[in-house]
Amino acid sequence: MADIWTCKSIETLQSQAAGTEPDAFSSGAKVILKRSLSLVSLIALGVGGIIGAGIFVLTGHAAAEYAGPAVSLSFVLAGIVCVFAGLCYAEMASTVPVSGSAYTYAYATMGELIAWIIGWDLILEYAVGATTVAIGWSGYITSFLKDVGIVLPTALTQAPLAFDPSTSHWSQTGALLNVPAVLVILGVTGLLTVGITESARVNNIIVAIKVSIVVLFIAVGIWFVKESNWVTPLNPQGAFIPPNAGTAGHFGWSGVIRGAAVVFFSYIGFDAVSTASQEAENPQRDIPLGMLGSLIVCTILYVLVSYVATGIISFDKLNVPDPIAVGADTIGFFWLKPIIKIGAVLGLTSVIIVLLMAQSRIFYAIAKDGLLPRVVATLHPRFQTPYITTIITGLVVATLAGVMPIGLVGELVSIGTLFAFVVVCAGVVALRIRQPDIERPFKTPFVFVVGPIGVISALALMAGLPLDTWIRLGVWLVIGLAIYFFYGRRHSRLRR
Ligand code: ALA
Repeated sequence: MADIWTCKSIETLQSQAAGTEPDAFSSGAKVILKRSLSLVSLIALGVGGIIGAGIFVLTGHAAAEYAGPAVSLSFVLAGIVCVFAGLCYAEMASTVPVSGSAYTYAYATMGELIAWIIGWDLILEYAVGATTVAIGWSGYITSFLKDVGIVLPTALTQAPLAFDPSTSHWSQTGALLNVPAVLVILGVTGLLTVGITESARVNNIIVAIKVSIVVLFIAVGIWFVKESNWVTPLNPQGAFIPPNAGTAGHFGWSGVIRGAAVVFFSYIGFDAVSTASQEAENPQRDIPLGMLGSLIVCTILYVLVSYVATGIISFDKLNVPDPIAVGADTIGFFWLKPIIKIGAVLGLTSVIIVLLMAQSRIFYAIAKDGLLPRVVATLHPRFQTPYITTIITGLVVATLAGVMPIGLVGELVSIGTLFAFVVVCAGVVALRIRQPDIERPFKTPFVFVVGPIGVISALALMAGLPLDTWIRLGVWLVIGLAIYFFYGRRHSRLRR
């Protein structure tokens, strides 16, 4: 009998990926996930999951509070951390092309307990991530509708409670429910239930529009970048990296690093590509390319957008919920503002599609291993989607999005994702040592350097997050452990 440290063999996982193992537990006939995602769809999935609230909202905050014009350098640093993790994800995804991402990789390298912990942790990245982005979506759509003369009542566009992360203070907002946030989650859940091909098609269209809008902002704005805009009372010399303002993290190099921890959120989502392994036409080649390709495209766009934004308006004026739209206003392109808002609304929608899709695939993979009730892994006989878990996840996330304050959830998403990066980077090195000879269509270059640097850089960004966030992560993991020892351990297929 296997114990909690026994790893699932790579051979078992590879036969699962090849479809020689049954995928469904109900409905009589063998139903398998539909392999319909091409390389373009996978890159679009990555870009769809990446470009969202981070670039459209957090850029301004990170520039105004921490990095100034050097926020573009913060984007480079955060991008580098993601590339290290991305290279490790890519090797794992090509070796073990099974739905489930970091969860599955941990099962193959560190055993069931660690796999469960990571699967549980990924809920923070995907389900809580979708909650956070839905709350941001609600803010953008409300503001866009207001611009065109439709004013929604505050009682129906905000959560009943607010939370200030810097003081850990709760307050009442007087509102009832964040209705737009609930509706967007329910809509996306419906789409994901009816099919992966349909979802990918909608995602491809949205991604094409949002990337065009981002490129339009860069193409128009770049002509108005002036170094004189870098001059502010805090930065009288107009330096690219403003001098430190007295406390660590407040401008200077420490500010650039703090800025990187904040904008890291903008990159979350590229790893979601790896959760679609069993729906890719050619997973061993395309999943690594999809992840790394989308990461590179987005890093370039992010660096350019943040360089333009801080070059057309002084960074001290960017601490607003819609910094990119405000930038367009500053250079007199008033027509660009509504277009950018539409880009943000669409952008956030595709992030929600990708995160919710990823979450249901993780639950699907966990349930197939017996660590969650088997019903969760049921596929729809016609749509070939894990519809039970998609619907349950959608209902829970819709409820959270309706009542949760954004201040409570944002940083939890980042810490949860970084924790998964640590495990994947460590896992890839462990597997190279333990099973050096298995077939690896994609190999992480310099793995014994890239893997450890991936671990250290993810830990360094985690260290920049507040103690409260660490405590919440700890509480979340303790709840997960209790569920594992109460349920998962007894029902594990591997152990039986
Ligand atoms: N990267 C995603 C965003 O910025 C989560 O919205």
